[in-house]
Amino acid sequence: MTHTMPKVFGFLLVVLGLYLWIGYAITDLSGGEKKSSGAVDISPEGGEAIYWGRGRCFTCHSVGGQGSAVRGPNHGQFGEKFPLPMGARAVERAKVRAEKLGKPFTAVDYMVESLATPGAYVVEGYKNEMAVVYAPPISLSLKEIKAVIAYLMAQGGDLDMEAIDTKPGEVTAQFYAKISAAAEAGGGDPGKGAVVYEENCTDCHVLNGEGGETGPELTGIAGKGLKFISAAVLQPAKAITKGFETHVVVDKNGRQTVGLKSSDEAAEIVITKANGDEVTIAKADIKTITIDKNKSVMPDDLSEAMTVKDYQDLLSFLMLQKGAKKGGEEKK
Ligand code: HEC
Ligand code: HEC
Repeated sequence: MTHTMPKVFGFLLVVLGLYLWIGYAITDLSGGEKKSSGAVDISPEGGEAIYWGRGRCFTCHSVGGQGSAVRGPNHGQFGEKFPLPMGARAVERAKVRAEKLGKPFTAVDYMVESLATPGAYVVEGYKNEMAVVYAPPISLSLKEIKAVIAYLMAQGGDLDMEAIDTKPGEVTAQFYAKISAAAEAGGGDPGKGAVVYEENCTDCHVLNGEGGETGPELTGIAGKGLKFISAAVLQPAKAITKGFETHVVVDKNGRQTVGLKSSDEAAEIVITKANGDEVTIAKADIKTITIDKNKSVMPDDLSEAMTVKDYQDLLSFLMLQKGAKKGGEEKK
């Protein structure tokens, strides 16, 4: 049923999340109401508020009879399918993980793993489509994640706040380190993001010396920040990079050519189309040449071909691109 939810809907969520998030960032900048994660109460109550609020867990999960989402497992005790509430279930799952990995694994380790690396253990009967909750658009902080874990451990389990917060064991501490590092880099999995990049972007952009030259070089793009990058991908036309304006050339025969002006000589210009084709047009043949500010040569539907997870992975990959451009034409 909800499994067939089109990717487009997921994207709507991303876009909505993006606006909310930009909203928060602006509130932050203007010194308005602080949405600081410092205010998070690392307790079952604090986690409950996040679970049913900005963590958006409730969009896929229910807790017993509370909520109606079924895309992910119920976190309470519910019918024959869920004989154990999440806290107690985590103990059982941890045993399975310990056996598989050949090392000690606690219930808290399992719980943290299910948020840090959702794909590590996919609950039978479900798809590997649990959200990466520390990446956009949900972007929970580590504190918020700890709070949510406290809430879920309190569902029929032993609530050990030390293991969750102040004195995490080795496995949990490693997951926490991963979450912190990934959250800083925009969340997502940069390794998978490299594949997404390869499939969707490399034809038009040079990155670390490789790729097509239609669009601007992306080496060092991390310096422009997560907000800039995500906006550039979701709505390319909103802020067209200087020097990459979309030119619309109509020649005397009425033939229209749309693309970037990649060369402008005395007698002719060259227009590079989105597919990379170069069209040389004699200046004497041009009837009109205009710039279309509402359309980028970069397609604005790239995100539609991706899942939310692909997009998160892509962003985190791009946030790691901190290298310097060759040639050094850009002075800081
Ligand atoms: C986009 C839908 C989605 C969202 C949003 C989501 N989850 Fe999940 N979650 C799933 C799916 C699907 C699974 C089962 C597949 C798997 O194990 O990865 C799952 C599995 C889990 C599990 C393991 C359950 C078990 O029985 O072992 C936990 C714990 C969990 N999610 C917690 C959360 C929390 C906490 C949030 C909010 C911060 C959240 N999820 C948000 C879809 C989602
Ligand atoms: C058909 C060619 C094409 C493809 C495919 C393409 N881009 Fe672009 N991209 C461009 C062009 C042209 C521009 C400059 C115009 C603009 O800003 O919209 C651009 C601009 C950008 C910018 C802004 C760069 C800056 O410094 O201002 C980013 C970031 C970007 N693209 C990322 C991506 C990513 C990520 C993908 C893959 C998901 C991608 N592009 C796919 C052509 C493309």
